[in-house]
Amino acid sequence: MSRPLIAKQKSLSPVIVIAHRGASGLRPEHTIAGYTLAIEQGADFIEPDLVLTKDDVFVARHENDITDTTDVAKHAEFADRKTSKTIDGTKHVGWFTEDFTLAELKTLRAKERLPLLRPDNVQYDGQFEVPTLAEVIALAKQHKVGIYPETKHPSYFAGIGHPMEARLVAELKAAGWDSADAPVFVQSFEVDNLKRLNGMTSVRLIQLLDASGGPADKATPSYAAMITPAGLKAVAAYAYGIGPGKAMVADGTLIAAAHAAGLRVHPWTFRAENYFLPARLWSGVNPRAHGRVEEEIRQAIDHGVDGYFTDFPALGVAARAAAAKDQ
Ligand code: G3P
Ligand code: CA
Repeated sequence: MSRPLIAKQKSLSPVIVIAHRGASGLRPEHTIAGYTLAIEQGADFIEPDLVLTKDDVFVARHENDITDTTDVAKHAEFADRKTSKTIDGTKHVGWFTEDFTLAELKTLRAKERLPLLRPDNVQYDGQFEVPTLAEVIALAKQHKVGIYPETKHPSYFAGIGHPMEARLVAELKAAGWDSADAPVFVQSFEVDNLKRLNGMTSVRLIQLLDASGGPADKATPSYAAMITPAGLKAVAAYAYGIGPGKAMVADGTLIAAAHAAGLRVHPWTFRAENYFLPARLWSGVNPRAHGRVEEEIRQAIDHGVDGYFTDFPALGVAARAAAAKDQ
């Protein structure tokens, strides 16, 4: 075990394990099978990224472009829906959830996003539906775990006549989740949608941050500005915590600053494959072989994170247990 770079810090809250897109290291992402495996492996929260259908139903997809994570290209009946769109400044060519009703989307099947890195998951291609938020909520309630939904491209969706906030709040309220102790965190890389949500619900909100760039809604100039003491104080006015990229917590400084502002810290995303690990944690030279992600998670725990996203919930749970044993 490599030594922490700075002294150990304590988390503000009990450390939670968040299953990133389900147990997405082991099943195609955002499928009931992947979420179910995550729950079996001990995840505290399952993470659906949320986009809307043509008939305004929330479904779990990482983006509204479903070209790479479903078999839509094989459906001749939808060939004429292929189009090009610019979303948050990036051009996409393919098929998009907002052009499909839920009934149409339900005829598609999920496929593995990363077949070269995760070849074992390809065996599940074609087996699983695109789940709705309602189905994810039902699963979470059945197994008594929480959900950690992310609004994807909220400004884009509002701009095409599909605002997200009221629909999300209504769906959470219908599930009985409208308070700060509900088993829910809502996250976004954008800012203004979180501020609007803060005025509409008391569920906990998480401001996502990246190591470069800034929010697509341009509500603040950059993520760098948001992690200054003044920036963190501003985030604390509407959010319960921050979700920074894992590299942003590698030395513990941001965690201490966020905690000082009263914010919890849930970094993303811990993945076992060498490809996603720093060179010092690789095992062998194959990018898809698993390296020592437990050490990476342990360092984050020692720096005081309040939870973390992982594609491999079992490894996340084991790393937390090992850290607790060493206390
Ligand atoms: O939501 C945390 C993390 O999932 C953000 O990244 O791109 O996987 O949604 P992404
Ligand atoms: Ca996400």
